[in-house]
Amino acid sequence: MPSPHIPVITIDGPTASGKGTVAQKVAQHLGFHYLDSGALYRLTALSVMRRAIPLDDEHALAKAAEHLHCHFNGAHIFLANEDVSNDIRAEAVGNLASKIAAIPTVRQALFGLQLSFRQHPGLVADGRDMGTVIFPHAGLKVFLTASVQARALRRHKQLIDKGFSANMEDLSKDLTERDARDSNRSSAPLKAAEGAYLLDTSAMTADQAVEQVLSWYAAAKPV
Ligand code: DC
Repeated sequence: MPSPHIPVITIDGPTASGKGTVAQKVAQHLGFHYLDSGALYRLTALSVMRRAIPLDDEHALAKAAEHLHCHFNGAHIFLANEDVSNDIRAEAVGNLASKIAAIPTVRQALFGLQLSFRQHPGLVADGRDMGTVIFPHAGLKVFLTASVQARALRRHKQLIDKGFSANMEDLSKDLTERDARDSNRSSAPLKAAEGAYLLDTSAMTADQAVEQVLSWYAAAKPV
């Protein structure tokens, strides 16, 4: 059973801000579990795409989220028993994830699954609403940002490394649209949680950002 006494660090921020890399490294350093909550929305989106569920069928979308047969094994992410670690990183999947993530019943369907990641000895969770909605009592909350330019460059590199084609102009436009949709939705919008430390990583390496988060954690009284 997840316990409220197990420490949690939340790292929220916009798409391609580097929060995934930073969160994973912080988790590794502390020996904590890691929750990539965006992957759950991406898995739901992939499942919705494959089953051609229409975007206006909220009931079916929520059911797809509720019955998500997924598991994580290190860096590998499985839908049913298929390794979809790369497929869920496609821009089309990310954009659909952002659309269905605006639907409250979809978010509700993924609520319990996210809480279940809180296991001993601790959890680092990254997403949009980790510090505001899912783990509002986390011992350390971080809001990680970076300029659109820096984020488009990072996303470009990520996509090319995974063998997808990408161009900077389309990516900057996608990021800006996704930010607007994630920030302006009424259900769990992207915003800094109360008490969150702000970290702009535009001019930082991932390791510098990790060091900063670890020093905040050492100074905090973890809950
Ligand atoms: O972090 P990401 O780019 O992999 O997330 C994909 C989409 O999922 C993102 O555009 C919005 C949604 N999301 C969300 O609404 N809440 C979260 N906690 C994580 C992701």
